[in-house]
Amino acid sequence: MRIGILAALREEFLPLVSHLEDVREGEAARRPVVHGRLGAQEVTLIASGVGKVNAAMAAQILIDRYAVSALYLTGVAGGVAPGLRPGDVVVADEVLQHDVDSTALGFAPGEIPFADRWIFPTDERLRARLLGAVEAVTGKPPLVGRIVSGDRFVADREEVLRLREQFRAAAVEMEGGALGQVAWANGIPFAVLRTVSDTADGEAPRDFTAFLAETAERAARILVRAIAG
Ligand code: ADE
Repeated sequence: MRIGILAALREEFLPLVSHLEDVREGEAARRPVVHGRLGAQEVTLIASGVGKVNAAMAAQILIDRYAVSALYLTGVAGGVAPGLRPGDVVVADEVLQHDVDSTALGFAPGEIPFADRWIFPTDERLRARLLGAVEAVTGKPPLVGRIVSGDRFVADREEVLRLREQFRAAAVEMEGGALGQVAWANGIPFAVLRTVSDTADGEAPRDFTAFLAETAERAARILVRAIAG
């Protein structure tokens, strides 16, 4: 059994690679792929690139080419739930794509039109592993909630309020909803762990830049703990 791990950015990917043993490097569809072991667990990591198309491609590559039987996504996110601060941890109970909009046709905001499903639940067993690892590394439980994704870096307080009201979002990023859709279509369990780099408001561009490296490293450490034990 091989586990697949997606991370969008170099800063999110390289801290994961640094924990691997028996490393073999490769490439798929112009993106870095690294195989190795975390403890006894065989894993394949892919640096997906940012956004929903990149995440969907990377997830399908991990499934088709490397036969992974579970998928994790990690990295940073904008905190949307009140009180979240840089460094806090969010684990998704479900994911959706907040920028899908066929409301003109009578669909709900975020609803993928003419599809069976648009809210994708994460796997309970994978999630439980993440929760245990968060507690072990940080000493406190994460926020468990809905992570919403879109092809937009959110840096606007009004939009944060909309994401709370429309979607009950805990955090916003740019990949999880796409991973959820691909994982669900393929019948593969998945989970998403994010650390907060910013709060998706006017300060977000500055905070994201300032906190990316440190918070992404924290996310990687937690995920490694969840997988390697
Ligand atoms: N990832 C980290 N911060 C983000 C934000 N504010 N919007 C979208 N994705 C993010």
